[in-house]
Amino acid sequence: MADKVIATIVGARPQFIKSAPVSRALAGHFREVLIHTGQHYDHGMSDVFFEEMNIRKPDFHLGIGGGLHGEQTGRMLIEIEKVFTEVKPNCVLVYGDTNSTLAGALSAAKAGIPLAHVEAGLRSYNRAMPEEINRVLTDHVSTFLFCPTDVSVANLEKEGISSGVHRVGDVMYDALLHNMELARGRSQVLSRLDVKRSEYALATVHRAANTDDRDRMSSILEGLGKLKARVIFPVHPRTRKMMQEWGLSVNFNVQLIEPVGYFDMLILQENSNCILTDSGGVQKEAYLFGVRCITLREETEWVETVSAGWNRLVGADTQRIIETHASWHPQTERLPLYGDGHSAEEICRVLVSALE
Ligand code: UD1
Ligand code: UDP
Repeated sequence: MADKVIATIVGARPQFIKSAPVSRALAGHFREVLIHTGQHYDHGMSDVFFEEMNIRKPDFHLGIGGGLHGEQTGRMLIEIEKVFTEVKPNCVLVYGDTNSTLAGALSAAKAGIPLAHVEAGLRSYNRAMPEEINRVLTDHVSTFLFCPTDVSVANLEKEGISSGVHRVGDVMYDALLHNMELARGRSQVLSRLDVKRSEYALATVHRAANTDDRDRMSSILEGLGKLKARVIFPVHPRTRKMMQEWGLSVNFNVQLIEPVGYFDMLILQENSNCILTDSGGVQKEAYLFGVRCITLREETEWVETVSAGWNRLVGADTQRIIETHASWHPQTERLPLYGDGHSAEEICRVLVSALE
């Protein structure tokens, strides 16, 4: 089997995290060629994850960087095609819903290479989100659709996709379990920020619908500024740029910090009293940690966190942010929605039996 080549395409922060457990599982079964599109490039958005999670250096770094959607995705298509021509993979592996995902998926489909999509079947049903377009298109050209949840399997069924669908659980849970003890041993983030368990809220914001709309962004910052709590806010570079452009600042209770590495983020989440976010991955991790999550969006693709009672959707509404934070304290039982922490091995088993 080790002669079969899997080309893995990553490019954005959550994809480094998702790929780590899968690459570990694939080792010894396949020759994995790792392609980093370069969509994220700051040390704190990329290299830190490779270092902490022991991900080997990419075989190809495409250096694409930011840009408009067409420009960014188009440049990826050109470069990925060249790599595929050189390495002739037997299968291409993509993660999630970013422009790197779509570029990898389209390149594989056009080259006639079987495509495996990890985190298939997620839907927010909001086609204004670039991520929704990326997910839908990727799923529709995928050979192997690795779904994290029952809902994602049902979503695919509604679109007529049942062949190649495997419910495997969520690789982010695998990553969390694998890294939690390491994070507890190594992260100094609580002492560095001088915060204690349960004495702060944690915020992240980076969705285009929020960052690129001055009213929404300012309404969210006002909400965070009026919480009766200290708020730690690791700021995504996109958000920092737009806050500067809009001339937006925050109240003294909100501490803006640089994006943190995975270990620090796990510790900050585990110990926070409340998470306020528009991130997909962070909504899930909040659930896994049993921390209430206030989602700064009108809808979510991680609907089971809402129906389980641990996630509330408040949009960018200042008043709803404040009131939900002040009065909502879920106590309900948390069922294991995201598998058993062995999703990566399951993905590997499916690929081994299909590709041999
Ligand atoms: C991307 C994904 C989004 C995902 C997020 C994870 C798309 C369409 N969006 O959004 O689904 O949730 O990553 O974090 O693929 N920038 C830097 N340094 C970096 C990275 C980005 O300065 O290392 C700045 C640049 O100004 C860049 C902007 O952020 O133009 C946006 O980056 P981009 O990768 O295009 O989209 P994200 O908002 O990060
Ligand atoms: N994350 C991190 N440092 C940060 C913010 C997020 O390590 O400063 C991690 C977080 O724990 C989760 C993943 O990045 O595992 C989520 O990525 P992001 O929010 O960028 O993207 P999304 O999940 O919305 O696509």
